[in-house]
Amino acid sequence: MKEHISTETLNLESPSDYSDRLAIQYAKFVSLKHKKENGQFFTPSSVANLMASYCDYDEKTVTVLDPGFGLGILTCALIENLIAKCNQIRNISVTAYETDSNLIFYSELVLNYLKIWLNKKNISFEYKLCNNDFILHNLTIIKNNDYEKFDVIISNPPYFKLGKMDERALASKGFISGESNIYSLFMSLSVKLLKNNGKFISITPRSFASGKYFRGFRDSFFNSVQIDNIHLFKSRRDTFNRDKVLQETVIIKATKTNILLDKRISLTSSKGIKDITENKIKNYFTKDLINLESAEKILYLPSNNCEISVLQLVNSWTNRLSNHDIQISTGPVVYFRNLDHIRYESKKQTDDIAPLFWLQNVEKMSLNWPKILKEKGQYIIVNKGSQASLLQNKNYILLRRFSTKDDKSRLIAAPYFSNFIETQYIGVENRVNYIYRKDGHLEENEVSGLCGLLNSELFDTYFQIFNGNVNVSATELREMKFPSLFQIKEIGNKIIESNDYSIYNINTIVNEFFKLENIFQN
Ligand SMILES: C[S@@+](CC[C@H](N)C(=O)[O-])C[C@H]1O[C@@H](n2cnc3c(N)ncnc32)[C@H](O)[C@@H]1O
Repeated sequence: MKEHISTETLNLESPSDYSDRLAIQYAKFVSLKHKKENGQFFTPSSVANLMASYCDYDEKTVTVLDPGFGLGILTCALIENLIAKCNQIRNISVTAYETDSNLIFYSELVLNYLKIWLNKKNISFEYKLCNNDFILHNLTIIKNNDYEKFDVIISNPPYFKLGKMDERALASKGFISGESNIYSLFMSLSVKLLKNNGKFISITPRSFASGKYFRGFRDSFFNSVQIDNIHLFKSRRDTFNRDKVLQETVIIKATKTNILLDKRISLTSSKGIKDITENKIKNYFTKDLINLESAEKILYLPSNNCEISVLQLVNSWTNRLSNHDIQISTGPVVYFRNLDHIRYESKKQTDDIAPLFWLQNVEKMSLNWPKILKEKGQYIIVNKGSQASLLQNKNYILLRRFSTKDDKSRLIAAPYFSNFIETQYIGVENRVNYIYRKDGHLEENEVSGLCGLLNSELFDTYFQIFNGNVNVSATELREMKFPSLFQIKEIGNKIIESNDYSIYNINTIVNEFFKLENIFQN
């Protein structure tokens, strides 16, 4: 590889340009497998510059940590930006971690070039480049209570899921949060290594913003730092186009300090890199983007005027489903545990049988059952073995737990009324959530109103403000805010009276009800 990568520096080349040039060449020589295994997707220079521009730190000496250093584009961009706007800086020291032993030769070239470049500007520079696992190495040091803290941490950490038995997940258990993905472990550990009032800048998937896997992480992260800036990349394809990463990504800049609910957060967004500088800054109170008192601490990320209006409306609601005595649970019929009970046709004469509803039966505002589906029998036998997995036949709303990337809308819900079929029980498969009233039953207008809301553009937009992935978890639904029960019933009555269950009509009713006609052009 070495003979193919051109390492000489160009006349007047900035360190970040040099780093970028090496990164482009290196990325061409390593396989996609290597990139995935190491979470090695280098930051494009325009993104690195945006991240760096968020930081100011006008002190004589600055200590910087870059875990998952790669070819150091973030450190270079950070230092170039810092010295351009902060006159006092005289000494800079960088600590970098990088596990890829083939890459580190080039990482060192960049650091040496940065040193020469800074020395010419009369700024002293020293660095420590560690060919160690950032997590394991620092956990050991922290546990021994003898460690250095940094003024600024800038990071594009590796992203991949960690198995429960991964040594990094095991080592961090009970000590730092975020063990479900390596990136959240990097973030948690970084915050521990940050001085008070130190600055933290990261680019990561937005998946930590919601969902149960990152709940512990959010709890500790949002209680440790004050977020100052956020930039959201809306397109899954664009941000790291060079390396074909399919993620919605987010830049966070935060300060390690006490959290003030009235502190403003600047939020910008772009589709990808091309429009990165075209965005308009919107300022929000911290409390409008994160409810720090809630258990979930979901981070809301509105990215356009429509989403902002929706967030304002939703923030004016005070109820969750539980306040209306309404619950949401996950369908109890697990396919592989019920193989003996699932049937492809109803043989009423011999078996006591119930309908079984799969994700594919649930469509927007309608339940399409029975349906011929491969390996998805539409009936389930009622007997002692299956009964614990069945539900009483009463009114429900069935909601898909997963959408596909091609689905126009993430929330796909169907009303279910007990007169749909004359059986005592019904079966709901595990990839479907069901909404119900535990010790009672949902009225027709409650089912229609709630189902209409869930299928509306309003709720789909609301959902996408906090969820960047395709899962629709019961936990998140429990955290979502809803209008009053009176309003839900009113919407239900309007839908029933119109006798038109098309999504066009649902949106018309919901938008008229909340005066959103100018926001959503139906
Ligand atoms: C997403 S890349 C980012 C590289 C660079 N910071 C940038 O922004 O271009 C993450 C880097 O972390 C390195 N890495 C992966 N796991 C690591 C670990 N446990 N400790 C330290 N570095 C790691 C990878 O080899 C890769 O170079």
